Amino acid sequence: MSEQVWSAVDNYLEELLIPTDPALEATLQASRVAGLPPFNVSPLQGKLLHLLAKMHGARRILEIGTMGGYSTIWLARALPEDGRLVTLEINEEYAQVARANIAAAGLADRVEIRVGPALETLPLLEGPFDLTFIDADKPNNPAYLEWTLRLSRPGSVIIGDNVIRDGEVINADSDDPRVVGVRRFLDLLAAEPRVSATAIQTVGGKGYDGFALGVVTG
Ligand code: DHB
Ligand code: MG
Repeated sequence: MSEQVWSAVDNYLEELLIPTDPALEATLQASRVAGLPPFNVSPLQGKLLHLLAKMHGARRILEIGTMGGYSTIWLARALPEDGRLVTLEINEEYAQVARANIAAAGLADRVEIRVGPALETLPLLEGPFDLTFIDADKPNNPAYLEWTLRLSRPGSVIIGDNVIRDGEVINADSDDPRVVGVRRFLDLLAAEPRVSATAIQTVGGKGYDGFALGVVTG
């Protein structure tokens, strides 16, 4: 089974299930033009985030890692009118691109971007958040998980992107700090008595990766 097939199936499912969306397409285009790394979630993954937030009835969402705001928009669209999303971005240029994209999507009133290293902005936040999406620099994932737990309540949902990394996640000897960060993140998640978690491998237009999903139980 090749990446070509994964992409073709992603295209098929996108055409079937994701209506053409000018704000989201403009977001991807603006991100490309501004030279942002192409690390946004896929449309199908974005809609999964949206549906998870909706199913959960999330009113307060935290996102760690904004980039161009693509997943931000999917998540924020799941909020009720008085809901709020706080998204953390280290790079001021990326944050500017995201700010424009979010405003063009009509979500400026619901989304707040905090610029700076997340380990500096997380301590300034007031929880609890109903759902947190962790999708920033992978080496800091263990610390992001600890902050997320501090900012959660029983019932809060935690989603971590990119936990499979082409299967490198099973390489205990990896010296890639992103793999080391993701493995430590999964170890913490597994050992955390307050969280019930799973992880799912994914293939598609973005290659072979996956996400972790947990619920705070106590
Ligand atoms: C990387 C980061 C991401 O958030 C992603 O979705 C894909 C790749 C990376 O840093 O390699
Ligand atoms: Mg990601």
